[in-house]
Amino acid sequence: MQHTSRRGMMAGAAALTLVGPAIAQNAPIRIGLMLPFSGTFAALGENIAAAFELCLAEHDNRLGGRTVTLVRLDDESDPSKAPQNVNRLLERDKADVLIGTVHSGVVMAMAKVAKDTNTLLVIPNAGARAVTGPMCAPNIFRSSFSNWQPGYAMGKVAGERGAKKVATITWKYAAGDESVEGFKDGLKAAGGEVVKDLTLPFPNVEFQALLTEIAATKPDAVYAFFAGGGAVKFVKDYAAAGLNKTIPLYGPGFLTDGTLEAQGAAAQGMLTTLHYGDGLDTPKDNAFRASYTRTYKAVPDVYAVQGYDAAQMLGIGLAAVKGDLAKRSELVAAMEKARIDSPRGTFTLSKSHDPVQDIYLRKVVGTENHVEGVAVKALADPSPGCKM
Ligand code: BEZ
Repeated sequence: MQHTSRRGMMAGAAALTLVGPAIAQNAPIRIGLMLPFSGTFAALGENIAAAFELCLAEHDNRLGGRTVTLVRLDDESDPSKAPQNVNRLLERDKADVLIGTVHSGVVMAMAKVAKDTNTLLVIPNAGARAVTGPMCAPNIFRSSFSNWQPGYAMGKVAGERGAKKVATITWKYAAGDESVEGFKDGLKAAGGEVVKDLTLPFPNVEFQALLTEIAATKPDAVYAFFAGGGAVKFVKDYAAAGLNKTIPLYGPGFLTDGTLEAQGAAAQGMLTTLHYGDGLDTPKDNAFRASYTRTYKAVPDVYAVQGYDAAQMLGIGLAAVKGDLAKRSELVAAMEKARIDSPRGTFTLSKSHDPVQDIYLRKVVGTENHVEGVAVKALADPSPGCKM
């Protein structure tokens, strides 16, 4: 689907940074938004796109002085279609810049094409470690997290809370594997160990046999990586099996973010770790939440924050070159040294272009992932393996 910004004339346009008269007359910058708009991650893609557009609207639909044209493409969270989808955005839709995506398998193909074509790519969710690791490149940035980060923080908290023997369960793909890897590192540092790893293929949600295995294992706790529709079903099935009464269920915050209305009683009291949460009560977050809620009549989640920050990061780069994408090294340098004033709190980027950020401990209270405190301060992924 191709269109100009859906909400192009939205509320509260703020003054634009660095508009030069010559550049202002230039052609619009075409931004390809490749995200899941169908399937188990559909809500994640929609919220990223919504907040990306909100940030644009707050800047009069201009970045670095140039108007922005958005082209949306539904990647269906399907890695097999990813190379064709990225090429469609670049060749058919003539995208100058790529924003995407949610699924770690899909982002690997995006990053490969971005690298081969030297197209600027900002990743607003997918945490695949490789793209800011061995595959890192000057033109690839992430506004979200590496899969290892929230997992590590949860492992540390679980261990500190006395979990010695833990079972893990996840979809079998890069995000789940790397999230569990982070969890194991954190848990080990806090004196615990994983005694069973359970997996099922993405996006399968037939959890019953695996829940039976968890009950038989009797671990001190369970760590689960699921998101979107799959997270809703897992948390409800876990409670329906009665496991939440005896075995605490932990996870990275994706397990309960944007899902609480649907999870209801099943999620109450759950502890998760993530780089965003409810009740931060900072001026930046309060302004973001008010603007988002006014515009979309919905409360923003972590995916919205990551979409908003992808637009902020791109805006910082484009402002530095007054919209001139050909000045690539200046644009990259400005993004690299930015302190991003995010609703999550200010964050910086590592040398491999991954956020270095606080990871919060959150507790589910009603329909909120209430921030209880900082689980790990200024956490960076320790093993990027990036040579730039
Ligand atoms: C991923 O595939 O990287 C991912 C998807 C949803 C939430 C978090 C990570």
